[in-house]
Amino acid sequence: MSRLTELLAQAKNKDPALGQELEHEFKVLSSRRSFGLNFERHRPENVELPGRPIRKGDKVRILPPRATTAKGDQRLWKVLKLEGTGDKKTAQLELLDTAQSERQKIAVVDLIVVAEFKDFIYPGLISTGKVKHGGEKPFHTIINSENFHALEALTFTHRGKIDVIYIDPPYNSGAKDWKYNNDYVEKEDLYRHSKWLAMIERRLLIAKELLNPRNSVLIATIDEKEYLRLGLLLEQSFPEARIQMISSVINPKGVPRDGLSRVDEYIFVCLFGAAEVQGQIKEGSAGTEVRWRGLTRTGANGIRSKSPGAFYPILFDNSGRIAQVGEPLPLEKGPNDYTPPKGLHPVWPTPRPNGGDGRWSVVPETLRSLLKMGAVRVGKVNFEKNQFPIFYLTSEQLKAIEDGSLVVKGHNNHGTLRVYFKEDGGRRSAPRTVWDNVSHSASEHGSMLLREIIPGRNFPFPKSLYAVEDVLRLFVAENLSATVLDFFSGSGTTAHAIMRLNRQDDGRRQCISITNNEVAADEHAALRSQNLRPGDANWEKWGICDYITKPRIKAAITGKTSEGKDIAGYYKFTDEFPMSEGFEENAEFFTLTYETPVAVSHNRAFERIAPLLWMRAGSEGTRIENLPAQGWEVANTYGLLIDLDDAAAFVKAIKNSNGIRVAFIVTDDERRFQTIIRSMPDTIEPVRLYESYLTNFRFSMGR
Ligand SMILES: C[S@@+](CC[C@H](N)C(=O)[O-])C[C@H]1O[C@@H](n2cnc3c(N)ncnc32)[C@H](O)[C@@H]1O
Repeated sequence: MSRLTELLAQAKNKDPALGQELEHEFKVLSSRRSFGLNFERHRPENVELPGRPIRKGDKVRILPPRATTAKGDQRLWKVLKLEGTGDKKTAQLELLDTAQSERQKIAVVDLIVVAEFKDFIYPGLISTGKVKHGGEKPFHTIINSENFHALEALTFTHRGKIDVIYIDPPYNSGAKDWKYNNDYVEKEDLYRHSKWLAMIERRLLIAKELLNPRNSVLIATIDEKEYLRLGLLLEQSFPEARIQMISSVINPKGVPRDGLSRVDEYIFVCLFGAAEVQGQIKEGSAGTEVRWRGLTRTGANGIRSKSPGAFYPILFDNSGRIAQVGEPLPLEKGPNDYTPPKGLHPVWPTPRPNGGDGRWSVVPETLRSLLKMGAVRVGKVNFEKNQFPIFYLTSEQLKAIEDGSLVVKGHNNHGTLRVYFKEDGGRRSAPRTVWDNVSHSASEHGSMLLREIIPGRNFPFPKSLYAVEDVLRLFVAENLSATVLDFFSGSGTTAHAIMRLNRQDDGRRQCISITNNEVAADEHAALRSQNLRPGDANWEKWGICDYITKPRIKAAITGKTSEGKDIAGYYKFTDEFPMSEGFEENAEFFTLTYETPVAVSHNRAFERIAPLLWMRAGSEGTRIENLPAQGWEVANTYGLLIDLDDAAAFVKAIKNSNGIRVAFIVTDDERRFQTIIRSMPDTIEPVRLYESYLTNFRFSMGR
């Protein structure tokens, strides 16, 4: 060792930069574990920032020509000088990280800014819309961003305040499911595991700063390709956590794996501080109520022609009860050819997504005998919206009642059966670590559900809404105002699940969803061939966050598709109701921007950080969008003082208003800041902001 240290000192003398790099690598090597996960950290990780204007001093990459699918020049260049204006603007570039100097002049439109991990970034947020359907409830926030940068920004707004993190990261399947340094990581890449680990580790380490150390949970899903490495990484990154793993069936049909049929994946649960299981997986656990199935037959067999005898009217009376069960119509006849008995309203099977006729799950005779038994239940009827949710007990469930594994505990008001899973010796058992619930099937309750909410838009591999709801329930059942974060949120299932949980118990939980605006791998080539590039509006509009996540959350809340139609489907399982009812929730959509502190006006810089101040105070109520002309302003949950001479009026306003939690005071003078906070109530959290606004949010990616 001492010989190596000597050699390093000699190298430093000869070439300080080289010596330092050698020393860094030496330290990395010597800190390697004798047991555990050793992997190459792959520095630097860099990220392209489409849409960020090019400025002198920026690090850039030259884009491949439009309409080609070529990978393009991967080297990094520094912008030395900018000349000209508009489309004619050019940049004088110098190649970085090379012994031989190389320069060239390139049109600015052919460049893209790159942030390396050692660079500073100045993130800001701009609002791209909101939905307000939830009165005074806090807002769910959905952020279009590279998650590393958004997590950095959250260290200002949510340090130590997050109750639950749920992530479903790319599984590193080798099938173009994620990118490192702007390149898909493929199966053949020898470094695919270490690149994946390096990417996840960096994000987990910031995530740790956001979790409440006294009581919080991190949940991460993964499959067979990386679960071994992720498990070790979690242990090493969170030595203080208690870690458990659940095996969860998400694809009951299975995929072939070396002669076996793989049906499950894994859910790691890391418990911090006093965190503990608070809830139950509703369906299937001992003592819980069974789920009634929707009467409309879904899936490939749900077409009228597959069972013409199951296409018939169910006749409702004016009070919303089933009065009669009609007879099947001949195949050539449709609902328009049918005249219902006087005073009765005919209800037909829900049409197929393509508009064709659907069918019920049982024929009229069976339905009549189920009705007699109390094995048919009607949900909330809405004549105006033509909503008639009908549920029934399947023949398997009826058989289970006979053999005793399901228990009937009387009838409810409308005479329908109350059926429960058998109690486990009178105890409600702890949730088990093997889950095999039909509600967790990703294709049925992820992909197919998404198709109902945002018809015509495809997202690869969303989770089952009910699977996410179930795992979150375990840890937020008793925390009605929990803050939940998902920084690989994809289609937005986590926020949607939180809204469902809130509806079940009148909760005010909020979810922060972060996901980038990538387009799917196959769309890439198609868009390139249309002359488009990332950063072009016509490219970005197809990105996951703008095309899938934001519209999904908006549709879920409003109950209407992006085309303005009522969503056709029904929610199932624990809380069954028409999707068109929507949710009483609020959400705001943002895009993370990259600012440079030079050449940005004071007010513009403030505008970009305004949402961060609002988020720090709870993402609730009104927001201060501009620098207040009178020197201070108060919103519902926070106040802002920019002119310290007005401190007395500001403090008075804070004392007079209910609900203020945070006071932001803009000053570079620590002494004056201290004086002002002494005059404020203890319940208010004072936060000092630098006068040059963007520097409050300056983050070095390298850390
Ligand atoms: C497996 S999906 C999550 C699916 C999600 N659970 C759902 O149910 O829809 C992972 C998502 O993370 C996004 N993603 C991957 N790397 C990211 C990054 N560095 N920053 C932000 N988002 C990223 C991907 O675009 C993808 O949409």
